[in-house]
Order: sequence, then C-alpha cells, then structure tokens
Amino acid sequence: MAPTDQDALDEDMMSISFKYKGIYFTKKYTSPEYIDAVEHMEIRDNDVFLVTYPKSGTVWTQQILTLIMNEGHRNGTEQINNMERAPWIENNFHNVDFKSRPSPRLFTSHLPYYLMPKDLRFRMGKVVYVCRNPKDALVSYYHFLRMRPGIKCPENWEKFLDLSISGKVVCGSWFDHVRGWYTHKEDFNILIVKYEEIKKDLRATVRKICKFLDISLDDEAIDIVVEKATFKNMKHDSLANYTFLPNELLDKNKGAFLRKGIVGDWKNLMTVAQSEMFDKVYKEKMGDLPMKITWELNEETAS
Ligand code: A3P
Repeated sequence: MAPTDQDALDEDMMSISFKYKGIYFTKKYTSPEYIDAVEHMEIRDNDVFLVTYPKSGTVWTQQILTLIMNEGHRNGTEQINNMERAPWIENNFHNVDFKSRPSPRLFTSHLPYYLMPKDLRFRMGKVVYVCRNPKDALVSYYHFLRMRPGIKCPENWEKFLDLSISGKVVCGSWFDHVRGWYTHKEDFNILIVKYEEIKKDLRATVRKICKFLDISLDDEAIDIVVEKATFKNMKHDSLANYTFLPNELLDKNKGAFLRKGIVGDWKNLMTVAQSEMFDKVYKEKMGDLPMKITWELNEETAS
C-alpha cells in the first residue's frame, strides 16, 4: 500500500523523536534513561516546579517566577537568563548539576504528571501548572515549529492539527497532559493558573503566586514584577525572551518566541469547520471535568 501523507508525517516525526512511556520526546535533547532518572530526582521542600503543556505561557511564567523568587533578577544585578534560572528537568541542555543548585531551586518541565519526580506526589516541593486554551496553544505550537531548524514541520495547519489531536507531537496531546494534571492535582502541592487569567489580571496573578509560594513582596516589588512581565517589556528583555538561544535551536529569522501573546488568535488560523470539530473532540475528552476554558478575550493586541 502506498504511504499516505499521514504515514509520511509520522515517519518525519519518528526520525527526530522517540516515544517513551506514552509520549514523544526530542532525540537530540533527552533519552529514556534520562527521563527515568528524573523520577528519582531528590526533592527539597522549597523546590518550585513550573509545569506546562508547550506554548501555554511557560516563558512568561518563568519570568514571573524568577522575578518573584530572585531579588537580583528584579533589580537587574543578576545577568542570568531564565532558562538557566529555571532549567528544564527532562532536557538538560547545559549539563546543570541540579544537586549543587542553591535553594530555593526553580525548575521547568513539560512532563506529564506521571513522569515527574516521585517525591512531588508526597506533596514535597511546589508545582505551578499553567494551562492555556488548547486552540491558542496549538496555533502557537504550529508557528513555533516553523522556527525549529531540523524539525520537518507538517506542511500545513490542518495536518498539524490532526497530529496534535492524536498526540503525535513532542509532549503528546494537550488533552492527556491537562487532563492528567487536573485529575491528579490532589496528589501534588499545586497551583493551577490559566494563561487567560494572567492576561486578564497580571497583578492579581503575581499576588496569587506569591501567596502560594509564601513569598511576601511589598507593593514596589510587585510593581516591578508586573512591569517586567508585560509582553511589551519581555519582547525587549534578552534574559527572558529566548532570543539568547542560538539559531541552531531557534531560527529567529523565521519568527519570534514572543509572537503575539493574545487570547483568541486561533480564530486567525482555524476554519469554522475545524473549530467545530475541535469543540466536539474537547467535549468528548474533557467534557466531564469542571474546568472552564476561556476561548477569547476582547482584545486585539498584547500589552
Ligand atoms: P503566541 O505564540 O500565541 O504569541 P511557551 O512559553 O509555553 O512556549 O508559550 C509561548 C506563548 O506564550 C507565545 O504565544 C508567547 O507569545 C506567549 N507569551 C510569552 N510571554 C508572554 C507575555 N508576557 N504576555 C503574553 N503572552 C506571552
């Protein structure tokens, strides 16, 4: 039987990634052994883990958390980029020695709940889980893949949409990720934050995160966090906006990590039929959960 487009895409996918314990990872950055080791990572009580499905506001929340947790970052005396401040646990790009990092440590992850360090399930450490409406997250993911050299991006949005709904993208399906974390939230010491709620009220979200982390910042410090975490300011903040990544990892000639930063951009890419199909899938997979999704806010540009 002649290969279909779908088979060809799966082959491309398989050439750069591997499937392990239910989801795809990028071969270049990690391995099954490394993923297994993460489960046994020793956790300290004051560790903080930022966890997201890709394109849900990870770098935004990295900026918020690093600013809340580090005065040096807030007052500009510490010139360390956010990827180093909040390293990924499943992709150790810089061979960071997690054990020798001073407390409080901050880590980032796209892992599903069941692959996270086991101790977190005993409510050690804290998890900030950020969730974005899946239509916007997938549109953002599609644009992002176009900036990734060496990754053959599905040639059109429709194909990407099919692949991502069936979980055939790095980090698996949005539905499995969010459902897994949401339904196991009682196991973790966790704060679930929505991208759209940060958009609606950045200051309130900063305060909410401070409360969760038991960090008390005065009004002036909160003002600084809010100011430095706006889309406009992060666009120019080279420690926060991932322009520090080399072009071999992210081709900045093809776009920007901080692309639009709005709620409802899916309307510019999804057809009405695709959106209706997606709503049906959403209902089937998530309909039984009391989760409210904000699909749009009345805004045109990011602030
Ligand atoms: P868009 O591609 O829709 O613009 P992640 O960090 O998880 O990869 O998510 C990236 C998405 O978060 C991008 O979405 C990016 O623009 C958005 N983002 C990053 N910083 C932001 C900010 N300060 N305000 C609003 N959105 C932001």
